[in-house]
Amino acid sequence: MLTSRPIVLSLATFICLLVLLVVRDGSFLASTPSNDAPRPKQPSDGYRHDVELVVASMKNEDTSWIQKYLPDCLIFIHASRFAWHNDDPDYDALPTLRNFRISHLQEAGYANLRCVWVIGCPAEIRPVEDEGHTNSGVPSTKGVFRQAWHELMMPEEAPLPEVVGVSCCSQFGVTRETIRSRPVEDYVRFRDWLLRTPLEDSLSGRVLEFSWHIIFGKEAVHCPSAQECYCKTFGICNTTCSESACDGRYTLPPSSTLPDGWPRVGWEHEERNFTGPLG
Ligand SMILES: *[C@@H]1O[C@H](CO)[C@@H](O)[C@H](O)[C@H]1NC(C)=O
Ligand SMILES: *[C@@H]1O[C@H](CO)[C@@H](O)[C@H](O)[C@H]1NC(C)=O
Repeated sequence: MLTSRPIVLSLATFICLLVLLVVRDGSFLASTPSNDAPRPKQPSDGYRHDVELVVASMKNEDTSWIQKYLPDCLIFIHASRFAWHNDDPDYDALPTLRNFRISHLQEAGYANLRCVWVIGCPAEIRPVEDEGHTNSGVPSTKGVFRQAWHELMMPEEAPLPEVVGVSCCSQFGVTRETIRSRPVEDYVRFRDWLLRTPLEDSLSGRVLEFSWHIIFGKEAVHCPSAQECYCKTFGICNTTCSESACDGRYTLPPSSTLPDGWPRVGWEHEERNFTGPLG
């Protein structure tokens, strides 16, 4: 079992680790401007139109251009390439991004980057029943969800769901159209809630982790079968699947910290013969 999940912060995703991948001609190009690196000349309207990847890792990173130039498709993803929650046999985000089907995202409006059900599906939170739940006295996400939902959402527009389920970890694609289907005031309210809530980041982040799919128009329980999800999202259609997992795709690791030397070196210090690109 996972003893300590890393702090999966939607807050970080939203404010600090905002990584926007803009797809142009079906290919990804990376540009991670650092503050002291010389920057290309700004076009006359003050916005860089050539940026395809922005890592807004610092508070002072300028993301104001997003308001003017919101890309067609955005992917929210954590900064580290190898992480226990990446839905890949090597926990590698690279093939996940390479295989990700923009055409599916364009059709679906929102697409989770994780298909396996373990952690999050089919019923992670029952807001009413779970209210006040703690883990040995420490408040849990499901224990605070009901209250948080009332603070985050407009109750008349978004009644409290009976059950919330989505595969974990706040990595997903979303289209501009989906984002714009909400008024900007909603996003301001979410941000202000994050800034003001007395909840620990590990809780407020996870509340959003289990809210993004609802915010972006999906049912509160958004758990497509693993077979359908891998096929539509990643074009992986020929594996044998149960409802919740497909053979050889993802195993919940014994710890949330990958071993030193991963992906070359495994849990027992064995050579894994990783053949993907590195570096
Ligand atoms: C599934 O298809 C891919 C590419 O078409 C191939 O590399 C892989 O071996 C196939 N897997 C199975 C289990 O047939
Ligand atoms: C890696 O390759 C070595 C040498 O060919 C082999 O003995 C070992 O079993 C392989 N390890 C795995 C995990 O496949």
